[in-house]
Amino acid sequence: MSTNFDGLQAQFENEVASVADAESLRALRDRWLGRKAGLVTDVRKQMGSIPAGDRAAFGKAFNALQQVVETGLERVGQELSQRENSALIERETLDVTLPGRDVTMGHEHPVTILRRKIEDIFVRMGYSVEDGPEIETTFFNFDALNIPEGHPARESQDTMYVSEDLALRSQTSTVQIHAMQRRTPPLRVIAPGRVFRRDTPDATHNPMFFQVEGLNVGEGITLADLRGTCEEFVRQLFGAEAPVRFRASYFPFVEPGCEFDYQCFVCKGDGCRVCKGSGWIEMGGAGMVHPQVLRTAGIDPELFSGFAFGFGIDRLAARQFDLDDIRLLYSNDLRFLEQF
Ligand code: DAH
Repeated sequence: MSTNFDGLQAQFENEVASVADAESLRALRDRWLGRKAGLVTDVRKQMGSIPAGDRAAFGKAFNALQQVVETGLERVGQELSQRENSALIERETLDVTLPGRDVTMGHEHPVTILRRKIEDIFVRMGYSVEDGPEIETTFFNFDALNIPEGHPARESQDTMYVSEDLALRSQTSTVQIHAMQRRTPPLRVIAPGRVFRRDTPDATHNPMFFQVEGLNVGEGITLADLRGTCEEFVRQLFGAEAPVRFRASYFPFVEPGCEFDYQCFVCKGDGCRVCKGSGWIEMGGAGMVHPQVLRTAGIDPELFSGFAFGFGIDRLAARQFDLDDIRLLYSNDLRFLEQF
């Protein structure tokens, strides 16, 4: 017998002892058991040329060698995967004593902060918060608000049209009509929301901004109720007594219509930097709901009357938070937003 089985076995033991990873294990398996050129395979191939008398002994020795190689590879394979498992467990161990990572909390946008505050004030006064679509038919944006085609107010509010008779609403006054159609008097609603106009952005304009609309319809509602409501609102909003004044103005959907200001609570009317010397700060538009508007929305103006008002939240926010440029509110600059 010319094959040195003992030598081969010793060689294998030697080589298997230095296997360090799955890669070298695979190489070792190929080297010994590879179907074409494996060392064990080579020995098997010699079997045919062994004289018949020696063949049984050769076969026995061959089987022993093959056994050693196979179990050796098997054992090292298991050792390797065990080692890998414990390394994995080690790596994934959770150290519960480590200090936690800081979670950065977001917070509400300044316009939202103010909107919520306004909602709370009116809800306490018995109003409900109403929502309306941001894309409106020209009926709701104009006609129902007593702004017929050809009326200059259609042009003065540079409206963004989606199609011939659909537009991004240019005022939250649209929600007045929805509210009156949905409910019956007495009704008290406010409707905060986005409005859109083809304005060129500057320090006091943005093509998208927020308004709050208010509507109170019932029996015997008068201008005095509007004044009282505005005064109470301003008092609660600023936490200070501030008289409100009405200046006659024109809006097609109210009669009489006015703009309302509140007295500057910094200088108490004397004139200062905050009110730009006038002693008063503009708040928004208001008035008694036009009988035609009530009628269009299905409410009998002989039985009911109402007041409405509307103002911009952004401008209020700009004043409240002392911003000199309204665009800051929409720049998504975290350095700005983190201050609130
Ligand atoms: N919709 C008006 C605007 O956007 C504001 C306004 C004025 C609303 C008078 C009203 C109102 O409800 O009565 O300029």
